[in-house]
Amino acid sequence: MKDTLHLLQFSDPHLFARRDGLIKGVCSYDSLGRVLALARRRHGECEAVLLTGDLVHDEPGGYADIREQFATLGKPVYCVPGNHDDLPAMHRELSGSPFHIGGHADLKAWRLIFLDSVVPGAAHGTLADTELQRLEALLADAGGRHVLIALHHHPVNLASQWLDQVKLLNDREFFAITDRHPSVRAVCWGHVHQSFDVRRKGVRLLAVPSTCAQFMPNSAQFAIDHSAPGYRRLALNPDGSIETEVVRLEAQARDDSQRRSA
Ligand SMILES: [Fe+2]
Repeated sequence: MKDTLHLLQFSDPHLFARRDGLIKGVCSYDSLGRVLALARRRHGECEAVLLTGDLVHDEPGGYADIREQFATLGKPVYCVPGNHDDLPAMHRELSGSPFHIGGHADLKAWRLIFLDSVVPGAAHGTLADTELQRLEALLADAGGRHVLIALHHHPVNLASQWLDQVKLLNDREFFAITDRHPSVRAVCWGHVHQSFDVRRKGVRLLAVPSTCAQFMPNSAQFAIDHSAPGYRRLALNPDGSIETEVVRLEAQARDDSQRRSA
């Protein structure tokens, strides 16, 4: 559709200061590189990137590689912090183009709103009163634009007891605001290291796999899922409709083997 806004969402790269650092047996640096290479090949025409938190795994030294790896896309990168990030270090290391941390962006027929849900020292999330007020103000003056909201923590339960303890705890306050604004079309998050796609009161609620290790869906306790790392493609249409899919590294392996056998 003409004037559609094309975005890619990546989440939870969990980079370390050292490039050989592992998350649950997965080298997070190498895995991010492979996911970004797939995205460049499959969706290099995207206009902007969402990066929904846990850029590093408690080691600010990893931000230098975030800068280097995401620069290869050549697109603006809109970031929100996750519970493993260090916000002052993130601002220090990712200041300037192509990175934007928090705030909002008006692109084509859409307003993208980026929220900080991090509670320092905690795994769960909460939106501070100042963030809730900023959300309300940005929705009130969206000027007829459709709205996508991005944050790190999930605002709904996923039928996964351990993960639901570390969700966005003031989800009621969040939805009390979004429910007053029919311009809100989508809420996107990371944190859960798995794909998720449901509708709530007409709003698309979307999670994305991590670019490294995945968590088992619907598991009461922490468990690793061996599905492949990936990202989400979003096509935001000017009429407010959304087309989206999750793309995983397995698709690249399948394409490569098809090319070899052709
Ligand atoms: Fe994470």
